Amino acid sequence: MSEHVCPQRNVTEVHESKSQLSRKNFLTAIAATAATLGLSGIAESATAATKKYKVCSTKDVKVGSANIFQIAAAANLMVLVTQPKAGVFRAFNPSCTHQGFQLSGISKTNLVCNVHGAQFSTNTGAVTRGPASRALGKYTISQTGTTLYISL
Ligand code: FES
Repeated sequence: MSEHVCPQRNVTEVHESKSQLSRKNFLTAIAATAATLGLSGIAESATAATKKYKVCSTKDVKVGSANIFQIAAAANLMVLVTQPKAGVFRAFNPSCTHQGFQLSGISKTNLVCNVHGAQFSTNTGAVTRGPASRALGKYTISQTGTTLYISL
């Protein structure tokens, strides 16, 4: 019976992720089209739809570790940040793609969900151990000085 429940949750999460990507692609296409037509005001508005949110300092995530941050300015969005190699930062949705529980550990190069044992790469978010079958949702992360941002 739980086998039936789990995929439905995953489908919902994937659907939300695809919606965000579709919206972003749509806005990018509008910006490109408007710029081509010389409608710079429209292009700027479409591009401005993507917002950057401050997440943390680079010092808050040590090499080989991970931390979860709450972004108050983005409706209390939770973001998991890793630093798999020195100077390389990644940002993920901290919800396990198996049943949506928050990831709670790290083992070498894997983020761990202690509920049923799923593991995900700290570098790519890919599943490295089931029962989860889908990668973690990713956020675009950028760095200015020692501050990390995500773009939504
Ligand atoms: S919720 Fe089942 S492994 Fe994470």
